[in-house]
Amino acid sequence: MRLDRFFTTLGVATRREVSLAVSRGRVTVNGRTVKSASVHVDEENDVITLDGREIKYRKFFYLMLNKPAGYVSSTEDAGDTVMKLLPAEYERAGGFPCGRLDRDTVGLLLITNDGDTAHRLLSPRRHVAKKYRFECSEPLTDEMIKKLEHGVDLGDFVTSPATLEMSSPTSGVIGITEGKFHQIKRMLAEVGSGITFLERIKFGPLTLDDNLSRGEFRELTADEISLLIS
Ligand code: URA
Repeated sequence: MRLDRFFTTLGVATRREVSLAVSRGRVTVNGRTVKSASVHVDEENDVITLDGREIKYRKFFYLMLNKPAGYVSSTEDAGDTVMKLLPAEYERAGGFPCGRLDRDTVGLLLITNDGDTAHRLLSPRRHVAKKYRFECSEPLTDEMIKKLEHGVDLGDFVTSPATLEMSSPTSGVIGITEGKFHQIKRMLAEVGSGITFLERIKFGPLTLDDNLSRGEFRELTADEISLLIS
């Protein structure tokens, strides 16, 4: 691929910035300073540097973000989007949140530019498992828990059985395999309680890191990526 495309695909620089960097001798390919941004490079094998830093090619990236409250899970919004928590190169490289967490929901959000994998993970047919730590306003009785575990009628659809692990009458972990709009809030409301705190701790094969603070992100490991894309 062309050298300028190499940089723009990665979101590292715009075409103009690449031209400028090349004209200033800041870009090397296999140890040689290049003179034109339109030279062709072997993105998989050539060693390409910008200002002495090697820039490795990768088609897709996968990030685990610990989403804080107050951010919208989208790429376009007049206010704060989760993309604003990341260096701009990820959005320039086509990154987007895989699915949505409500503005006040916190926790695990996958950010990627791999559309096919995101599509697969979000497909209702895949029943990808998600787990959320929750706190609620009204204590959950055995009967309410049974209803949630059985599936509740939300009017437009009946939820699949949820799993519940209670740590107190008003807190615990709920597992679902669907991802409808406001699903857990609506499920809890339907049985007579209300969500006061919601944190996603699992999404498919991914588990939120204990040591990833709110607002922080990290690249997924090779093992996590292979579980995700398989
Ligand atoms: N269920 C909800 O109600 N909200 C979320 O953000 C995620 C699941």
